Amino acid sequence: MRKTNHLSGKIVLAIAVGIIFLSSCTKKDDVFNNRKISFNTGWSFHLNDSIIDKDTIGTSTKWRTLNLPHDWSIEGKFDEKSPAGYGGGSLNGGLGWYKKTFKVAPEDSSKVTSITFDGVYRNSEVWVNGHYLGKRPNGYIGFQYQISPYLNYGEKENEIIVKVDNSKQPNSRWYSGSGIFRNVWIETTDKLHVAQWGTYVTTPKVTAEKAFLNVETTIQNQNKEAKKATVTTTIFKEDTKVTSVTQNITIDADANQVVKQLAEVQNPILWSDEKPELYTAVTEISLDDKIIDQYKTTFGIRDFKFDLNKGFILNGKQVKIKGVCMHHDLGPLGSAINTRAIERQLEILKGMGVNGIRTSHNPPAPELLELCDKMGFIVMDEAFDMWKTNKTKYDYANDWDKWHKKDLIDQLLRDRNHASVFIWSIGNEIPDQWSETGVQIAKELAAITRQYDKTRPLTAAMNPPVNMNIDQVTLQFEKKNVQFNAIAASGVLDLIGYNYAHQTYEHHQENFPNTPFIATETTSGLQTRGYYDAVSDTVKKWPVRWDLKFTGGNPGNTVSAYDQVQAPWGSTHEATWKVIKKHDYLSGMYIWTGFDYIGEPTPYEWPSVSSYFGIVDLAGFPKDVYYMYQSEWTDKTVLHIFPHWNWKAGQTVDVWAYYNKADEVELFLNGKSVGIRSKKGDDLHVMWRIPYQAGTLKAISRKNGKVVLESEIKTAGNPSQLKLTADRSTIKADANDLSFITVDILDDKGILAPNANNEINFSLKGNGKIVGVSSGDPVSHESYKGNKHTALNGKCLVIVQSDTKSGRLELTAKANGLKQATIVITTE
Ligand code: GAL
Repeated sequence: MRKTNHLSGKIVLAIAVGIIFLSSCTKKDDVFNNRKISFNTGWSFHLNDSIIDKDTIGTSTKWRTLNLPHDWSIEGKFDEKSPAGYGGGSLNGGLGWYKKTFKVAPEDSSKVTSITFDGVYRNSEVWVNGHYLGKRPNGYIGFQYQISPYLNYGEKENEIIVKVDNSKQPNSRWYSGSGIFRNVWIETTDKLHVAQWGTYVTTPKVTAEKAFLNVETTIQNQNKEAKKATVTTTIFKEDTKVTSVTQNITIDADANQVVKQLAEVQNPILWSDEKPELYTAVTEISLDDKIIDQYKTTFGIRDFKFDLNKGFILNGKQVKIKGVCMHHDLGPLGSAINTRAIERQLEILKGMGVNGIRTSHNPPAPELLELCDKMGFIVMDEAFDMWKTNKTKYDYANDWDKWHKKDLIDQLLRDRNHASVFIWSIGNEIPDQWSETGVQIAKELAAITRQYDKTRPLTAAMNPPVNMNIDQVTLQFEKKNVQFNAIAASGVLDLIGYNYAHQTYEHHQENFPNTPFIATETTSGLQTRGYYDAVSDTVKKWPVRWDLKFTGGNPGNTVSAYDQVQAPWGSTHEATWKVIKKHDYLSGMYIWTGFDYIGEPTPYEWPSVSSYFGIVDLAGFPKDVYYMYQSEWTDKTVLHIFPHWNWKAGQTVDVWAYYNKADEVELFLNGKSVGIRSKKGDDLHVMWRIPYQAGTLKAISRKNGKVVLESEIKTAGNPSQLKLTADRSTIKADANDLSFITVDILDDKGILAPNANNEINFSLKGNGKIVGVSSGDPVSHESYKGNKHTALNGKCLVIVQSDTKSGRLELTAKANGLKQATIVITTE
């Protein structure tokens, strides 16, 4: 029996709710949300290159049932010989097929039905009932096909087939994932409807008293005759109706028409990174007094500029952009998006004081931008990692000529209402940046961007002026003998965006007196969470280029977590922040990276399979430098000391402290003071070099002699027990929600065993499943999808997902020789 999905019931309900809305029209949530319904469940999947085309799919083809979003690469084994290379995380691509059958209600035959894919990596091709709908090479942009002409209505089933070809490798410098890795939707509308991404809400003038709104709505008439209709836009703040504008239109048959409406919001509540206040515009199209289409747009009211001297000004206030770059993978979940997993990443980053995200180096999942709107992040929305010239053999450069225009326009249309999007980036370290070809392309991309949105500045994440040899850069700046990047010199950008080369930032105003600055990418510090060289200056810089064999560092490709290891082109975390912090005209920075990501390991060699750049590891556990930023970027009172306190007797060990709101820190070893330290000048940490002695290390921070905080680290005994802690112990029973459970390996007194690397086995009872395991270890080759995993430095993560039944989930963790632990998660 083939699995069947019914679209029918929900669509009928949609109309009913629409009618209720007509008579009540008081709350924005009355807007029916069934215009767009999820189409993620009940797909069949087959990974096989042997299917030549969709007609060779036979009865003997073995299919597996799954729900989307789905990433098949994350299910595979790490493979040193993977064609994806180390950059791709040593995980294979391949060619996958998805199919799904469904029925459509007879009454929908008079409507327009479309299928929307938020992103399929890559080269997707789609057929409905044998009709070819099209191909989309770019894996990161959303696309839609109208399918109504090919549908069967009523009892006869429909079949959709999607081919995903990620077989030509390498095509990415980082782990891309493979498959329908973002959400899929079915949209059903009247033939007269708001077009795809059909609204554009801007706020040309904003004062404390009033905001002027400009709403442009593209109405699409797919009827064979002209229509006279009414378009009403109602602005809501939460459930309160703020204002409304109505306009009568006559729209030709088979035509699109842009309706421009002006509105005013009195005493607007402004969006900021600290208070992300949002509004909703509800567009209603009425025909003969009956609402036939409703469409919701979330937007924010805010006023901002990048100033030559004062940097980023948001609602009249100077705000430093304290951003991080993020790739799209979600660690052990791979690239299959999950809203809660993205939200957790953002919560962890907010906790450190991050207020900006760069979507390196591609359009993000729509859910990321929705969360950034709600949580208050200043987003640099980036389009491309290459233009015409390849970075890897089979990458998007091969599709550039045919697709770049459409891909960029679609990104702009899709993302331009987001309150959180403040900067468009037309590319990252584009190889064409040094040549006249690059300048021509930059001009073309800038013209397209400005055609669709003039409200945000445009930048490119460029390489520094000369080359990657930073000493040479400094020298050339001193000699005022700078050969500029051609794109930077062309004057096409609104913001000069440089990656790295923090030594050059203080020359910015001399070099670009008319263009404000943003550090599009900085730092590239390297660390393994919880691993330390006892003495912090034993490794100063990464000793070799990352594309050469790793010859320095530590055994097992570990990298010490003191902030002293960096990519040669980058800096320590402290060095770049010190410069950015110092000058108002440096509007801010996006650090490489917030979280570790799969692929692009540094050292760029087996056995490493994931990056070391994250301030937070792949599992979501912060590395120590997280607390340096927290001490600088948040109001929290911070006193963080490290490393752990399990060393060899007599060994010399460096102890570092990050702290704030205090003027000194005193360190005690087993009750005896080993000295008071204070940050001098622009210092961001203090340090003691002391002989190790087992026991208790205690730090006390003081202000004017009064204790501010105390912090202790104790020597742990042998690993003896497991402890489980869930980020949320009640989750939704929606087959989507997740609980992230941390496993700590403790000694018998409850102290974290900092070197424990036991293998932990998980079992789950109840209505859900284990969907990911990780320790954050960049050299681990254990599957992220199993029921067991080896801990790294005392910690491991297990992720459980609900199903649709409410109840309880009981997770048990066991390891040889350790006391087991159980935790209960409620699903409701
Ligand atoms: C940059 C690049 C990033 C990443 C980083 C690693 O040059 O833009 O994608 O590769 O280096 O340091």
